Amino acid sequence: MNDKLKVAVIGVGGISNAHIGAYKKNPDCEVVAFCDINEKVLKAQGEKHGVKKLYADYNVMFKEMPEIGAVSVCTWNSAHALATVAALNAGKHVLCEKPMALNAAQAEDMEAAAKKSSKKLAVGFVRRFGNDCAIARDFIGNGNLGEIYYAKATYIRRNGNPGGWFGDKSRSGGGPLIDLGVHVIDLVRYLTGNPKTVSVYGAAFTKLKNRPNLKSAKGYVSVSSEGAKDICDVEDLAAAMIRFANGTVLNVETSFSLNTEKDEGKIELFGTKGGIKLDPEFSLYTEINDYPADVKLAMPTALSFEGLFAKEINHFVDAVLNDTPLLAPAADGIEMMRILDAIYRSAASGHEEIIG
Ligand SMILES: NC(=O)c1ccc[n+]([C@@H]2O[C@H](COP(=O)([O-])OP(=O)(O)OC[C@H]3O[C@@H](n4cnc5c(N)ncnc54)[C@H](O)[C@@H]3O)[C@@H](O)[C@H]2O)c1
Repeated sequence: MNDKLKVAVIGVGGISNAHIGAYKKNPDCEVVAFCDINEKVLKAQGEKHGVKKLYADYNVMFKEMPEIGAVSVCTWNSAHALATVAALNAGKHVLCEKPMALNAAQAEDMEAAAKKSSKKLAVGFVRRFGNDCAIARDFIGNGNLGEIYYAKATYIRRNGNPGGWFGDKSRSGGGPLIDLGVHVIDLVRYLTGNPKTVSVYGAAFTKLKNRPNLKSAKGYVSVSSEGAKDICDVEDLAAAMIRFANGTVLNVETSFSLNTEKDEGKIELFGTKGGIKLDPEFSLYTEINDYPADVKLAMPTALSFEGLFAKEINHFVDAVLNDTPLLAPAADGIEMMRILDAIYRSAASGHEEIIG
């Protein structure tokens, strides 16, 4: 008898490869089916990964393959909620890529479906599984920061609109805030104990769009994939101040297009005893013997993608098979969508948004 967890992947584009590769390496599961509305992509991925059951419609897949136990949802953002709810209603556990949905209302529907079916619903906050996150958690957990009261999160691209659906608000829900901001906002929430949010003040601008005219400077590669024919109705810069219920305030900046020197991705946390920076290497700023001291670790500390998705997938499979708690449950996906909704509302109104 084969009692492995049988897994299907819905949406088999770019990031699905990280999920599929990790499932294939996990001895407790087996990838049995793929679903994608793009026939060409579906066929190519089936051939590449040796998966024979291929579907254009996940409802048909669930009907024909009751043996499927769990699903990764790796579609573009606008399909996350429908695919996830359908999978949960069909009795499957779900790992849904970030962002959880287009907005908090959809995310709440997804959680309700998970509760109704008593199945797991994990959100793909993969940065929670990063080696850099583990180091930061060690230092925070051992009291090196004291009380954390302020944080900065930066995810800035100079010319990095990915193109395709990423620039199409109807499918993405927004630009760099919902695509990149989720990673860094969630990391700060996770490192500071998943606090609830009190209020946000946000700003968003759609000024530069995807700049297909821009020549690539030496050493800089634009990640804009499709060029001028792409729809681009998402913001190209979003910034916000987020106030959490534990008193911490987070200042976040994200962009796809910005007239700045270089791309940047970093997290900074400031506490009463010390501050840390993931830039991307780890630094601790503190006091030793009444001297200001900068501490670097004598080991690689930058986020490594090697095995990163495997940690997320192995955790999900383990949580499903052993009914253990999820590291990134639906509640954190919902809180993230509340934050993003409020930032977009605040950017539109010009006023602070109170999150009740
Ligand atoms: N965790 C990370 O670091 C990370 C990195 C990249 C992307 N992502 C997320 O993963 C998701 C996919 O991104 P991507 O870069 O792989 O995009 P992609 O365009 O390469 O792949 C998405 C696929 O979903 C398919 N699809 C869309 N609607 C569908 C539906 N209703 N049923 C079946 N298939 C459908 C599309 O045809 C496409 O092949 C996004 O939500 C993105 O935010 C996460």
